[in-house]
Amino acid sequence: ETGASVTAMILVAAGSGSRLAAGVPKALVEVGGRSLLQHCLDTASTVERITQIVVVVPAAHLREVSAALAGQAVDVAAGGDTRDDSVRAGFALITGAEQILVHDAARPFVPAEVFERVIDALTDSEAVIPAVPVVDTIKRVRDGVVIDTPVRDELVAVQTPQGFRAATLRAAHDGHDPQVTDDAMRVERAGIAVRVVAGSPQGFKITTPFDLAVAGAMLEER
Ligand code: CTP
Ligand code: MG
Repeated sequence: ETGASVTAMILVAAGSGSRLAAGVPKALVEVGGRSLLQHCLDTASTVERITQIVVVVPAAHLREVSAALAGQAVDVAAGGDTRDDSVRAGFALITGAEQILVHDAARPFVPAEVFERVIDALTDSEAVIPAVPVVDTIKRVRDGVVIDTPVRDELVAVQTPQGFRAATLRAAHDGHDPQVTDDAMRVERAGIAVRVVAGSPQGFKITTPFDLAVAGAMLEER
């Protein structure tokens, strides 16, 4: 089977960042003089096989972000109430892609090689996610009591970009499912195999003020 060649990226940046609580949407928060969103675009623009980028931003910031991104080859869409809704808002602007990457603006330091690995693996997989081994022991807890300890060897922490054949992702997004926390989960529930490739320690998600401090320190080291 030959690999599809036209790859679009949906960059979901429409969250409010309630845990970061920076006073502006998280994707617009700056570290090292650039917004988290711009860091993502800086890297993605070096990945030649990405031929279209749709940035999904909070509806209230659509005009402001569109103006800030003018001159960069991106399309901008207004996001929804959930990440899932924001991904679907991105679909609307995608034209003719055979493969779609979905990437979190909250992961500004994912290296280009992870994008390349995901795109490479799409040659012979319908769905691909980057992941790193879990370092902590993970327990399932209910009402303050441990109910299960999954074997750590089998656990990974999943990052983005997640890559899909376009038709597979669109089909998987047909229907509301409030339990879904990432795109791969929709595809898994459709019974499709999701391939795992190596992520990167730099692919961590900025969620809290501590994460932002780590990001700032990391950039200063460079
Ligand atoms: N996201 C989105 N639209 C939403 C919610 C989330 O596009 N309605 C995006 C975020 O902008 C982020 C990614 O999904 O890039 C991962 O979400 P998360 O880290 O949870 O960001 P927020 O939802 O903004 O943060 P919080 O949950 O702390 O409010
Ligand atoms: Mg969130």
